[in-house]
Amino acid sequence: MNLEKINKGLNGVTVDYSAISKVMPETNSLTYRGYAVEELCEHCSFEEVAYLLIYGELPKLEELEEFQTKEREKRKLSVEQLQRIHYLPEAAHPMDTLRTCVSFLGCEDPRLWDNSEETSIDKFLNLLAKIPTIIAGCYRHAANQDIIIPKQNISMAENFFYMCFGEIPAKEVVKALEVSLILYAEHSFNASTFTARVIASTTSDMYSAVTGAIGALKGPLHGGANEQVMHMLMEIGSASKAERWLDNAFAEKKKVMGFGHRVYKNGDSRVPTMKKYANLMADYIGDHQWRDISEVLEQKMIKDKGIYPNLDFPAGPAYYLMGFDIDVFTPIFVMSRITGWCAHIMEQYADNKLIRPLSAYSGVEQRKVVV
Ligand code: COA
Repeated sequence: MNLEKINKGLNGVTVDYSAISKVMPETNSLTYRGYAVEELCEHCSFEEVAYLLIYGELPKLEELEEFQTKEREKRKLSVEQLQRIHYLPEAAHPMDTLRTCVSFLGCEDPRLWDNSEETSIDKFLNLLAKIPTIIAGCYRHAANQDIIIPKQNISMAENFFYMCFGEIPAKEVVKALEVSLILYAEHSFNASTFTARVIASTTSDMYSAVTGAIGALKGPLHGGANEQVMHMLMEIGSASKAERWLDNAFAEKKKVMGFGHRVYKNGDSRVPTMKKYANLMADYIGDHQWRDISEVLEQKMIKDKGIYPNLDFPAGPAYYLMGFDIDVFTPIFVMSRITGWCAHIMEQYADNKLIRPLSAYSGVEQRKVVV
């Protein structure tokens, strides 16, 4: 066994080509299909970015209208899916209920085994449209509130607020959600996307690949970090306690949630844009408590450890300010990343090779049952 050849966690290993996004740690930057994410956040809707990731180009006006019409027509859940939500345990985590309901969407689709490009795009639209309805439905069910039927004449971000709270908040709040959805949409071969590609590489169906990806995203080292960030900020409580809290965390060798990244070592390209729009929202709402604690943590982490915040760090408290319960933060990530996952699943189908790495055996040498 040659241990030097093993890259634990596939650290630094290039697995395949991909034309969907480019992560550039040397310049702390990120592009989707060649466009800088900052520019997409400034000028595009989440729906336009979803189209870009799937089709490779930004939509012309009539293409966008057609795409939006198809997405809006698919928002409603079946009666059977709604019944399923009612039978889910109220105490279950929304990532688990979402994973279960997405798996059920696969059971409902008669074209399950059709992995052609045309059908894959249709399945993607089905997932894009229904995932927010599932999240909001589970959210309201767990809170003992009536499930709200989706509207078909408003954007995905507006409709999500409407389905969760029965109303659409101010434009500063909607924009902050929309920006987070754009920034979370795609990030090359991260753990959940790679999971989706592994499943797709067996020529299994899109719903199975997405169900597996949701399971991977849930973990606190990946998407689950945005929830952990908020728990941490609440535990700290105020900016004046942040330095001391962090010193204790260092002494106990705790991982500080929302910091560090496998690829970016000098800052996450998405953080400045998320902070900008989260701050505009915080100014509008008039609540700076979480920003103040975050600033102390960020400065000290960089100064003492040289470790920078990742996107989950500003996204967690932003979702809290929007009024969402903490356990809905990672499902919101799913609502966005479904775009990147499906683009990757389709890219995998288009030029497939079964993903099957090797392992170096480290167990006992061969022996006999009967000696
Ligand atoms: N808090 C404290 N120390 C951290 C840290 C964090 N968030 N992230 C990395 N480090 C330290 C590690 O302890 C390690 O130190 P050591 O060399 O003294 O042992 C060093 O930095 C390298 O970290 P490592 O975990 O090996 O890097 P990785 O590339 O495997 O991990 C993450 C990347 C994301 C898993 C890691 O940074 C982490 O756990 N972050 C917190 C969870 C998080 O925010 N996840 C969302 C990612 S987008």
